[in-house]
Amino acid sequence: MDRVELGWDEFWAEVFRVRHRGSIPGIQQYDELVVDFCIQVLGLGKGKSVLDIACGAGDQSLLFAKRGLSVSGFDLSRSLIEVAKKRAGEAGLKVDFSPGDMREMEFEERFETAVLLSHSFGFFNHEENMGVLKGTHKALVKGGRLLLDLMNPYNLPRFQKTWTKLEGGYLLSEPHVIDAPSGVLRGRPATFVDTESGRIVLMNEDALSNNDIRMYTALEITRMLKEVGFNKTELYGQNKLPRTPYASESERMVVVATK
Ligand SMILES: C[S@@+](CC[C@H](N)C(=O)[O-])C[C@H]1O[C@@H](n2cnc3c(N)ncnc32)[C@H](O)[C@@H]1O
Repeated sequence: MDRVELGWDEFWAEVFRVRHRGSIPGIQQYDELVVDFCIQVLGLGKGKSVLDIACGAGDQSLLFAKRGLSVSGFDLSRSLIEVAKKRAGEAGLKVDFSPGDMREMEFEERFETAVLLSHSFGFFNHEENMGVLKGTHKALVKGGRLLLDLMNPYNLPRFQKTWTKLEGGYLLSEPHVIDAPSGVLRGRPATFVDTESGRIVLMNEDALSNNDIRMYTALEITRMLKEVGFNKTELYGQNKLPRTPYASESERMVVVATK
């Protein structure tokens, strides 16, 4: 079999965020629960605006739109944005999807709320991560709220090596590994055995680095949010209702900040 190395947007975005995610049992119900939680915690009534940063293929953006919210979603991956637009068209939903880099947001006081779901924060070095928070703060109106749905650094999931049968082949995912001195959860190397075209697809450097995540504790993230100008922060221990307090054994670390 031939071996090729491919990048995030040219190959892996679609395999992970569309094919692999779609194969996870119960994922649609999970998304519904997360969206219910966001709507309640952020006090999102009909017509309110939501900026879904790193929206992927639009799984949650479309659910927000279904609930009557005015949604803008953007993601670095053009291929995922194309999938999201297609899905919106098929569902008859109006969502403003566009490609973009969260480090270069230029919105000014435009949204009542912003969300970063499925741990889509911490992909860069500390200065750039701070830049993402600054850009998000600028994008919100006064009193606007940001919700970060993060893994709990004190209770990381047990990452395992898995084989998954997907359309067109098999996906082998290696476990994430935490690099303790830098606090970075290292990307999850994966291999796709493409049985249709008889080749083995590996991740190139770009695809691997797209998976690196700098983990922050509650104390650190709260300080960072204050530094960029947010007034108030709240912490929750799960991303579904009911609201639970954040603790070391919590399933998630959800941070809600108000401008
Ligand atoms: C963990 S996925 C989450 C996707 C979606 N929010 C969900 O919950 O299914 C992270 C997403 O971040 C996107 N991403 C990575 N770097 C980005 C950047 N610099 N700017 C915007 N999006 C980025 C990836 O393409 C990917 O879709």
